[in-house]
Amino acid sequence: MKITAKLSLTRWSNLFGIGQTAMHAAGLDRASDRLYDRFAEEFGHEDPRSSGYRSVRSYNFEAAVVRKLLRRYEGCILDVGCGAGLITGPLVREGRSVFGLDYNERAAFSASRRNLLTVRGDAFSMPFKKASFDVVLSTGFIQQYGPDHTKKLLEEIARVTRPGGVLILVWRQGTSLMRRLITNSLRVADWARGKPILKLFDHSLENLCGWSVNHQLETLTTLSVSPLLGLTLRNARGWASLVFGTSYIAVFRKRL
Ligand SMILES: C[S@@+](CC[C@H](N)C(=O)[O-])C[C@H]1O[C@@H](n2cnc3c(N)ncnc32)[C@H](O)[C@@H]1O
Repeated sequence: MKITAKLSLTRWSNLFGIGQTAMHAAGLDRASDRLYDRFAEEFGHEDPRSSGYRSVRSYNFEAAVVRKLLRRYEGCILDVGCGAGLITGPLVREGRSVFGLDYNERAAFSASRRNLLTVRGDAFSMPFKKASFDVVLSTGFIQQYGPDHTKKLLEEIARVTRPGGVLILVWRQGTSLMRRLITNSLRVADWARGKPILKLFDHSLENLCGWSVNHQLETLTTLSVSPLLGLTLRNARGWASLVFGTSYIAVFRKRL
């Protein structure tokens, strides 16, 4: 496999291996990290519910859309917060070079078993040199963090993306009618059963597109995914998206 990324080997402490227990990811609270361990124990890393997702069907729909987008852009991919590598694992099997970065020890281990070139590390301070990657992907990540961390993440992603390279960002569309109905019903059910709840933030499309400009990232495409309708909505700000969309997808290009 041809590896094109330039790596900072001094901080490349955990390639393919795990065990740096003292490491602490900026902003990641340990309770959330332990919750991912609990989900993994309950569902196993073949199942997206191990990463906190609720519907396997919706996840698979979204994952297929994301993979289709990734196939449009050539070169070495970095999957930030890759979890068990469920989304990018199939691309590795197609011959793509995919690096995976995740803080969770077990998730990173599972991603390495899917042959992602896996690093256990912190997304806010990535162990890669600038302009290392052609394509950076992050799915289901920014919803774990508030605005300040999200801005920092964009800065860090822009640093490791080569000029002309692409960022694909996927996050929950927290304000659509469908998402509100689903989230609130599940929260009540979880609360009634005494189940732990993963803390999540909502980010608007406007904020993400606005913040990315500050890091030389220009918006190429915005989409909304509606697994219920089996549709990818091209107008992410349209009424169908505001009612039925459950995730936003935005594609940015780093300026040359
Ligand atoms: C919701 S899961 C998404 C996993 C995968 N991207 C997917 O969509 O299947 C979020 C992942 O982000 C990881 N994560 C959270 N904070 C992180 C940080 N600061 N640095 C690296 N990984 C982090 C978690 O360990 C978890 O595996």
